[in-house]
Amino acid sequence: MNQPPLTAPFRIGDLEIANRVLLAPLAGIGNWFVRLQARRHGAGLAVSEMVSSFGLHYRNERTMRELLRIHPSEHPVSIQLFGHDPDVMASGAAVVAEAGADLIDINMGCPVRKVRKAGAGAELLRRPGLAVALARAAGEGSGLPVTVKLRSGLKPGDCSGVDLAVRLVEEAQVSGIALHPRSAAVQHKGDPDYGLVRQLVDRLEGSGAPVIVSGGLATAEVARRAYRESAAHAVMIARGALGNPWIFEELTGRRAAPPTDDEIVRELLWTLDRAERHLGPRRAAHYARKFYPWYLERLGVTGSEADAFQRTEDLDQARSLLREVVEAPALAA
Ligand SMILES: Cc1cc2nc3c(=O)[nH]c(=O)nc-3n(C[C@H](O)[C@H](O)[C@H](O)COP(=O)(O)O)c2cc1C
Repeated sequence: MNQPPLTAPFRIGDLEIANRVLLAPLAGIGNWFVRLQARRHGAGLAVSEMVSSFGLHYRNERTMRELLRIHPSEHPVSIQLFGHDPDVMASGAAVVAEAGADLIDINMGCPVRKVRKAGAGAELLRRPGLAVALARAAGEGSGLPVTVKLRSGLKPGDCSGVDLAVRLVEEAQVSGIALHPRSAAVQHKGDPDYGLVRQLVDRLEGSGAPVIVSGGLATAEVARRAYRESAAHAVMIARGALGNPWIFEELTGRRAAPPTDDEIVRELLWTLDRAERHLGPRRAAHYARKFYPWYLERLGVTGSEADAFQRTEDLDQARSLLREVVEAPALAA
């Protein structure tokens, strides 16, 4: 097969995506500024962290204010929903459309117990009829193209996710599938089976629904290899993008060299400023602790120097700590 380069545009439903390198949904991380960061660095599309369809249906204040916040410069953007009730999914999807999203993704892969216990996430692999109804409801409620992200199966060797993906396209007119070819049982460990993605690509040939490969894409090199091996239409970067938005530049041919220390520091400072804007100074200081290790490791700051950032109570303290441990022009101000 003659596979287009990752820089070639492709379509999800009626939406044109500028290239084939996407930011994966990341719970607790993939808010507007993390998505905006990925887009600034060249990602064709960024998908939000998962948002509860119930939270949207009931217009939960925090869900609306924080999880549904969309920055005007991040389009196209996909908002990922999870849930188990088609009526609530339709209503939540309508709220997402109203907020200005371009696409809706439905989470059918989350292995977390709390989500599965409620009958959502990977649990939907056990109830394909309900999964189809949910995807259909999201499309009807929103009028937007719907994609689904799912696992290959519940346990190693189980390929029910591939069968479900085909049903979702055929019966619910889903516009694209992101397949993470690890079973829910192994969570995020072990080698993904890109052969299963290839099988899905073959089975969906001619349907018009692109297949997006997720899983194990830690570096640009591995992502390129997985793209070829899986014959997918696009790649979705998850942990490989944490503290490394430059991976999108590498994969879209905009850079070959690793970022300089100054670029890394600038990026961290950019993130801290956005976190402050998003959550206010107090909550941002706590939230930012998640982000420090990703950037500090790249700067070679480890051990007790890195640990000190986990004890910072405000962002200015973190900024001055950064000044103490790295020398970068970005910190001169
Ligand atoms: C911290 C974290 C949060 C995640 N949150 C979501 C989520 O909200 N929705 C989803 O579909 N997948 C989620 N995933 C799965 C990723 O999107 C991706 O499929 C998975 O990490 C495999 O890719 P990787 O091995 O390249 O990291 C999450 C993964 C991680 C590590």
